[in-house]
Amino acid sequence: MEIPGPEWRADGGVGAIADAGGLHLYQLRLHEAFGPVVRFQLPGADGAVSIADPVLLEATAHLDERPERLFAFLDPLFETGNPQVMPAGEHASWRRLLLSVLAGRPSHERYLPQFTALTMALADRWAEQAGGAEGDDGRPVGLQKDLTALSLRMICAYALGGEVSEPERVVSAFEDVLTAHLHGLYRTPGAGAPGEAAGRNGEGERAEAGLLLLRRTVDRVIAAHHGGRRGRSDVVGALVEAGEEPARIRDTVMAMMLAAHHTTGVAVSWALYLLSLHPRVTERVTGELDRVLGARAAPAYEDLGRLTYLEMVLKEAMRLCPPGPYGARRTDTALVVGAYGIPAGATVFYPFWAVHMNPAYWPGPREFRPERFTPRESAARPRLAHIPFGIGPRSCEGARLAMVEAMLILAVLLKRFRFRPVPGHEVVPVERFVLWAADDIRMTVSLRNDT
Ligand code: HEM
Repeated sequence: MEIPGPEWRADGGVGAIADAGGLHLYQLRLHEAFGPVVRFQLPGADGAVSIADPVLLEATAHLDERPERLFAFLDPLFETGNPQVMPAGEHASWRRLLLSVLAGRPSHERYLPQFTALTMALADRWAEQAGGAEGDDGRPVGLQKDLTALSLRMICAYALGGEVSEPERVVSAFEDVLTAHLHGLYRTPGAGAPGEAAGRNGEGERAEAGLLLLRRTVDRVIAAHHGGRRGRSDVVGALVEAGEEPARIRDTVMAMMLAAHHTTGVAVSWALYLLSLHPRVTERVTGELDRVLGARAAPAYEDLGRLTYLEMVLKEAMRLCPPGPYGARRTDTALVVGAYGIPAGATVFYPFWAVHMNPAYWPGPREFRPERFTPRESAARPRLAHIPFGIGPRSCEGARLAMVEAMLILAVLLKRFRFRPVPGHEVVPVERFVLWAADDIRMTVSLRNDT
């Protein structure tokens, strides 16, 4: 059976993606219009097949290579090749090494006090900006800016041997580089011609300066490492021990800084934003926090498992606003997906956001309803219905660490503060590799124990 989809255009597909406002929104349009399996023009792939049904996705879950062009916007960050598209043979040992560093519960437990101290320092700063008496809103905080910087501090403490100087500048350097190069690929609103990173308003210069800053940061992280492995979670030590060459070590440090900071930062930002729009859910979360933590300001490691409603909230937030809105694979063999055939060599597009909005598995998909994640409701859904960390052998190696970090940050902040959206401030999701809010998510905070 022929796979449905929009008509082919001479521009290779960039126009339709730009018209929709980016690939994150285009995928929703495509699946609303054409159903769960859609063939469409993706720049860099002749025709890609997008699959938004979790049962049909199973036929692709073994695929372990990504199409190169789709992730070419990341190329400038790396010297030995972009790890996103590392060939499967090389990738298996890289993944094993990363999992040994990132996924171990003992390391998560060991670093929790340090994560807590970093979160408390941010909370103290926010407390100074908090509103007080009736009518005094204080100074708004920028969730995304502060929480991505916090996540960067956490990955540096955990895996990269300590502090990174000026994390806020590193975060904006990544933003500048990704914005410029994504514009080049997809011509997202206002961008120049495809393939051109440099563009308007000094974007190209900012991207170049950003890249220099990122390279210097990576060099400093590695120079601060004085050889020897400092523990299971020390990624530089693990790479040296594995005999990796210096350029590959630099690339892995860059990849980890990138992969860990913006995803976790936006996951927590979107969760706080959605909670601020749903006071009843927030009340239930804070009730649980008060019950589990009592007068303590932060959870111990064992408490995280007891914050079951908070975990449901985080999962629902990552369903509605998946930090990574899409992924992709290349298939070297022909596949059968339901009634359709996909030829060898094709690009399989993973529309994570559209999978999460599939009404067949998520009734009322636009509603924020954490109760969807009770053990009973979760067990009734197919395995791949909720995939914020991706699928199969290229799924996120940092998933377990990210959950620990995000739960901790949310627990500390929600125990201490109430959050209210700044009136008139519009929150617009855009794609910056992650699902990013164009002009941050600005909130006023007030201390809970003030009232
Ligand atoms: C809430 C936070 C996070 C989310 C939602 C997230 C999501 C994702 C997604 C969707 C992918 C692509 C998966 C696929 O193609 O199937 C990915 C890949 C990856 N993530 Fe995460 N991530 C998060 C945090 C982290 C953290 C803390 C790290 C730690 C370094 C990390 C490291 C990576 C790496 C290295 C990859 C590349 C996977 C590969 O090609 O083998 N991520 N992540």
